[in-house]
Amino acid sequence: MCGIVAYVGPKEAYPVILKGLKRLEYRGYDSSGVALLNSGLKVFKKKGKVAELEDSLVGKDVHAHIGIGHTRWATHGEPSDRNAHPHQSENGKLAMIHNGIIENYSQLKNELIKKGYHFISDTDTEVLLKFIEDIQQNNNCTLEEAVRIALKRVVGAYVIVLIDQDNPDTLIAARKGSPLVIGIGKGEHFLASDASPIIEYTKEVVYVNDYELAIIRPDELILKNLGNEKITPYVTKLDMELAAIEKGGYDHFMLKEIFEQPDTIFDCLRGRLDAANASITMAGVQNNIDQIKNASRIIIIACGTSWHAGLLAEYIFEELCRIPVEVEYASEFRYRNPVVRPGDVIIAVSQSGETADTLVAIEKAKEQGALIFGVVNVVGSSIARISNAGAYTHAGPEIGVASTKAFTAQLVVLTLIALKVAHAKGSIDTQRFVHLLNELHDIPEKVKATLQTADAVKKLAEKNKDAKDFLYLGRGYNFPIALEGALKLKEISYIHAEGYPAAEMKHGPIALVDETLPVVFVATKDSYHEKIVSNIQEIKARKGKVIAIVTEGDDTITAMADDVIAVPEADEIMAPILSVIPLQLLAYYIGIAKDLDVDKPRNLAKSVTVE
Ligand code: F6R
Repeated sequence: MCGIVAYVGPKEAYPVILKGLKRLEYRGYDSSGVALLNSGLKVFKKKGKVAELEDSLVGKDVHAHIGIGHTRWATHGEPSDRNAHPHQSENGKLAMIHNGIIENYSQLKNELIKKGYHFISDTDTEVLLKFIEDIQQNNNCTLEEAVRIALKRVVGAYVIVLIDQDNPDTLIAARKGSPLVIGIGKGEHFLASDASPIIEYTKEVVYVNDYELAIIRPDELILKNLGNEKITPYVTKLDMELAAIEKGGYDHFMLKEIFEQPDTIFDCLRGRLDAANASITMAGVQNNIDQIKNASRIIIIACGTSWHAGLLAEYIFEELCRIPVEVEYASEFRYRNPVVRPGDVIIAVSQSGETADTLVAIEKAKEQGALIFGVVNVVGSSIARISNAGAYTHAGPEIGVASTKAFTAQLVVLTLIALKVAHAKGSIDTQRFVHLLNELHDIPEKVKATLQTADAVKKLAEKNKDAKDFLYLGRGYNFPIALEGALKLKEISYIHAEGYPAAEMKHGPIALVDETLPVVFVATKDSYHEKIVSNIQEIKARKGKVIAIVTEGDDTITAMADDVIAVPEADEIMAPILSVIPLQLLAYYIGIAKDLDVDKPRNLAKSVTVE
């Protein structure tokens, strides 16, 4: 949700910023801009993708050793040149970029209008910048001081970075609720929303915390709290390679990430699963095992695809651990005065670790005494840091806006946790425990085999690309996969799709069924197989087009369905990790058949840091 990049040092700032913006474009891509300082402040902004900004700057003087850049996901004001960041102060000397939302911006704006300020854009960012400018002028103070005073009055979430024509070697940055990483080079500093724009220059980084302010010069990084006290920056080393954030020969990040899944799942299991010795090593779980196994209730909090992983985890935890589980949309949980008791354990699931709703929901549950266990992909992210304990999903950077490899990694980690807790609790017998560990051990190879369905799925995509609607149905462990398949299709192809429990379909959605409606059944072999066969018959009886994801060798459904994609046999608990893969591919290939930007679908952003 908006990407920010800044640079100060001996390099040319513009190429560093431009490359960084391209890496962060997954966060927002409706407009972008840069501000550069070189004998005066120059601001360039453009509606559309970063490439359009780049084209518009060919031949322009972009020479500078300090600058800031932004790629936007609109919140206040439509995507346009005018609303793109950076914004400038009334006197034209300051420029600022912002990621987040200033909730009390209209009150501040009214105050500023009364004082004679003019507003060029519709953004909350311009209001905050002019508020800072006003404080600086009235108090005759430094910019750093003015930022500190302003932020004490601001309600909302932000990362801001400012440059000042009168201090051409200094960047001022501050954070609350949105991510900010500072890369430390030799006589230079890099700022960004995540580490991807920084990784090729340095591996030494500082993750800025909420309510911290940074004053950054080529040779100096000063970190302070809003009370003006200095804080020692905590420098960490990035554990990431440049190759992980490049396409590596694939046409799109989404396809690369779908095909990476055998490796990401293997990485996720590495060092944790020891099937030969029937053991699972997960320090975050082990250190809190008594609290988790004796939890009166587990509440899983997440959004979107991560919520679907949470829903599947509900089925697995209740089955294996016999602990009641509730799965909550973070955005609902945070506002509905939920009952959380000290014996409750909260599992927060998030790829980015920065989702605003999930973050606030966690804070709310933490205040009420629950243990917070984070299942997060991005190392060092906000959710990882505020959780009491956790397990990383180790899927590596996910750049495609639609989540794929992070989802299967979430399923693997949640399954490992459930198995470990069940074993400690004694709610699973040894034979089944050992069987499931062996099944997990085999999953990366089975995922590899499942990916061989890609050509068949591509043909299916061609055949169905003009459908107006899709229905996705599943039962039991495959119900969350039906929801996830429908979400992927909506995001990537802009085709309306609904996911539903297969049996619930006859209570309403069956009215939609006719010969034009593709109905995707997620129907791998499980305890409900006969039931789903009946549901398929109900659809066929109404002339619906059935596409079925089945287990290899399933002749019954193969004989009934119009099209079938078969995945390797697996225990019903693990089968969803396989059955989701053809659905990811279906969404991808339909998006490609419709000539859409599958890596950056319209209106979406990778990291939703606004509520
Ligand atoms: C869908 C997708 C989103 C995210 C959701 C939560 O493909 O990516 O639905 O799952 O925005 O994001 P995280 O997992 O980063 O908290």
